[in-house]
Amino acid sequence: SSMEVLAMPPPLSPPVILTQDELKKIAAYKAVEFVESGMILGLGTGSTAKHAVDRIGELLHLGKLKNIVGIPTSKKTQEQALSLGIPLSDLDNHPIIDLAIDGADEVDPYLNLVKGRGGSLLRGKMVEGACKKFVCIVDESKLVKHLGGSGLAMPVEVVPFCWKFTANKLREMFEDSGCVAQLRNDCKGEPFVTDNGNYIVDLYLKKEMGDLRVSSDAILRIAGVVEHGMFLDMATTVIVAGELGITTKNK
Ligand code: 5RP
Repeated sequence: SSMEVLAMPPPLSPPVILTQDELKKIAAYKAVEFVESGMILGLGTGSTAKHAVDRIGELLHLGKLKNIVGIPTSKKTQEQALSLGIPLSDLDNHPIIDLAIDGADEVDPYLNLVKGRGGSLLRGKMVEGACKKFVCIVDESKLVKHLGGSGLAMPVEVVPFCWKFTANKLREMFEDSGCVAQLRNDCKGEPFVTDNGNYIVDLYLKKEMGDLRVSSDAILRIAGVVEHGMFLDMATTVIVAGELGITTKNK
């Protein structure tokens, strides 16, 4: 019997599928291209910003960056930066920051952000509010049409004193959006405590928030509220890493 030899199709190169963490790293490395020697740098918090801080540490050690001063946005980032040998200071000593690089949980088309799902928002808001340039780094899963409409938490940092009272005020404020206000717990089921000794109340809305500025001001008028995770009109650039490449959006 004869054997038929079939022509094999040429091998296809497998599609390169990047993980979410690889996309975060791509956005972070792109943002670090904005860093110049001598800058006062806001160092962000979270799994995306961590890549940027690692990269800054690496460039310092390679001698490609010099005289950097980092202003960390959380205790966690402070520890990471210290372990990398990045010189650190604070807002008291450096009230004006050249550039901050930080992640976000949501980004809308106007570059408004939701931050704080990782638990740090107050220090970030202080640092990023003091920046000449704030480069936000995200993978494309963070892009939304409207903030707070994704069904995910909108974090609000509150003082522990009578937090239920404050949570209830927040819930009532967004009653029309079907708001549920939930105290955030840590992995042991105890209240999650922020770097500033406060609690976080996560707001879950069934409908997106109306006017963001109005909502922001109203939340901040509640006496037990310290700060919320909406960063309105603060990012000057957003770098988005997606399967099809990197997009840079400027204000
Ligand atoms: C810290 C933040 C983070 O920037 C935000 O949660 C994004 O985190 P990640 O980069 O891990 O997705 O606001 O609370």
